[in-house]
Amino acid sequence: MQRIAHSFLKEKSMAELGFDGKVAIVTGAGGGLGREHALLLADRGARLLVNDLGGAIDGTGGDEGPAQKVADEINTAGGIAIADGNSVSDPAGGAAIVQTAMSEFGRIDIVVNNAGILRDKTFHNLEDDELSDVIDVHLKGAFYVTRPAWVHMRDQGYGRVINTASASGIIGNFGQSNYGAAKMGLVGFTNVLAMEGAKHNIRANAIAPIARTRMTEELLGPLADSLQPGEVAPLVAFLAHEDCPVNGETFSVGGGRVARFFVGLTQGWCSPGHSVEDVRDQWEAIEDQDGYIVPKTTLEEFRLLAKMLKEAR
Ligand code: NAI
Repeated sequence: MQRIAHSFLKEKSMAELGFDGKVAIVTGAGGGLGREHALLLADRGARLLVNDLGGAIDGTGGDEGPAQKVADEINTAGGIAIADGNSVSDPAGGAAIVQTAMSEFGRIDIVVNNAGILRDKTFHNLEDDELSDVIDVHLKGAFYVTRPAWVHMRDQGYGRVINTASASGIIGNFGQSNYGAAKMGLVGFTNVLAMEGAKHNIRANAIAPIARTRMTEELLGPLADSLQPGEVAPLVAFLAHEDCPVNGETFSVGGGRVARFFVGLTQGWCSPGHSVEDVRDQWEAIEDQDGYIVPKTTLEEFRLLAKMLKEAR
């Protein structure tokens, strides 16, 4: 808050990345990471729709208070924000969020899909609603908010989408099959949005944050104090900026560190007509990471296969 008030007053240097004229929707921005994203974007001149259902960590309940509080904080500091208490987890909520932003601000440039809940259970104990609720908020929620916004982004030939993935999906985390699946789903969602949006100057990227919030309070051990949620916002703002050079990538971010996650593909082994025993015997070659590639398109994977098929003939 102090930081925001101060920064609104100070004269911006030419080199600063600003968001004047831009409109951002940040979901789940009533606390934790989303609040920090909203504060930073507003601080840099964006007009904000601060969405938050205001429920408990498991998604139960609802309260417009947290979203309103963050919007008030931004407005008091000299920024422009409105609060929204819709749930992202159904199409009507997503449509209402976008509709409110459009009628209030007349455009949408940035969508940060950040809203999230946890229903951790080991897979063998997982109930249907623990699966569907988590998928509905994280994965479908990103669809429900981005889809109506996408129409406007395409029309205006400009947009930035940031999805919040997690190492729990990219790498895996015990007890989070529902959450991990939703989060890795967001990586796939991001990759396809990046391709479909490219010719409309819409870019989509994902983050996998590590930060101390109510969601992780118990989990981070002695490093918790070094993992402030505000350390994630600069990357989000950069990915939301029109100068953002990347599209379709996923970044690990937390505690001041930013790094890129990528999917690598080993050169593999190719022998048409091989037997199950051949697979066993060639396992080392299949897994050998020497010369792996990082394909940006399915065509790049296909080219590698075509090359090896040619060599195998
Ligand atoms: P948080 O619990 O403080 O923030 C999540 C926010 O989403 C809450 O304010 C909550 O009210 C809101 N929300 C939940 N369901 C909603 C719905 N249906 N509609 C609208 N808003 C809803 O936790 P945190 O850590 O700030 O999480 C933000 C995002 O970052 C989440 O997607 C989370 O999964 C992800 N994440 C966080 C990590 C961390 O280390 N804190 C690690 C990896 C991912």
